[in-house]
Amino acid sequence: MAMKTITALSHPNIAFIKYWGNRNNPLRIPANGSISMNLASLETRTSIEANPEFKADSLTLNGCRETGTALGRVQAFMDLLRKMSSKAHFAHVSSENNFPQSAGIASSSSAFAALAAAGSRAFGLALSEKELSMLARRGSGSASRSIPDGFVEWHAGTKDADSFAESIAPADHWDLWDCVAVVTDQPKQTGSTEGHLLAETSPLQTARVLDAPRRLEICRNAILKKDFEALADIIELDSNLMHAVMMTSQPPLMYWSPKSLEIMREVAKWRKKGIPASYTLDAGSNVHVICTKEYAVSVRTRLENIPGVAWVLSSGVGSGVQILP
Ligand code: DP6
Repeated sequence: MAMKTITALSHPNIAFIKYWGNRNNPLRIPANGSISMNLASLETRTSIEANPEFKADSLTLNGCRETGTALGRVQAFMDLLRKMSSKAHFAHVSSENNFPQSAGIASSSSAFAALAAAGSRAFGLALSEKELSMLARRGSGSASRSIPDGFVEWHAGTKDADSFAESIAPADHWDLWDCVAVVTDQPKQTGSTEGHLLAETSPLQTARVLDAPRRLEICRNAILKKDFEALADIIELDSNLMHAVMMTSQPPLMYWSPKSLEIMREVAKWRKKGIPASYTLDAGSNVHVICTKEYAVSVRTRLENIPGVAWVLSSGVGSGVQILP
């Protein structure tokens, strides 16, 4: 019996206030709340068919059949859906990104947001946005933030039921842009999931987490008031704080390359000259430069002119996850 294939479209997000470290690892209850914006130009499309006749789960990523850890993570997520729906079906999942893997854009946020939306539908579950965000969180913490529209806050909570994300402002609230400077010759880096486990080994993590409510409030207000200077200061502080924790973990995680630091210094110089631009880095050496739309072309060109920048991806603010017809 052929079952209907469900397809969902989602966007990855870039965090302004970062998620780093969990209070509960298996449930992905984060140590602190976080704020992000969805990236409109970057897309993940995920299709799923759940069928009682399938003998196992399968995963195809950008046309390639996956077997290792990627499949394992999807199977664990399918187990959740099977439990929630009381249906024992296996599923075939196929997912494509419109951005290259080598761009170092964390695709787990859009991957699990799309899988949560399409998967819950395929298993006959009608979930609210809040429930979808909670479900996506179980696949990848940052995926909880790719469910709602535009500018999003993930409330840390203390248990499964109160750890979810919601929109602070819609995508069209403020024309911000993210220009991602992709830096060449990145060394092999530790993935976020492994990194979160080390956060507590840094003596700085407690201070970072304790101060998070203050940073979240500044960031939320800066977004609501469209105050770029306030946003820029808090984004840079928060990124530097997270990297300070990473660098002082045991073993230390050094994500910045000399080129990342060079770009961060350039961005700081541009801002001094009056260009609204601010940097933030995730668990990698690529530098995300947040700016207003009117400066997006100029910032992009400036980044492209820095020797060693392989290429620049850029995007405005994106919507939340959607089911495609
Ligand atoms: C540095 O959401 O990728 O990008 O929950 O293990 O999938 P898992 O981790 P993930 O961690 C994101 C870390 C970050 C900061 C952020 O996006 O908030």
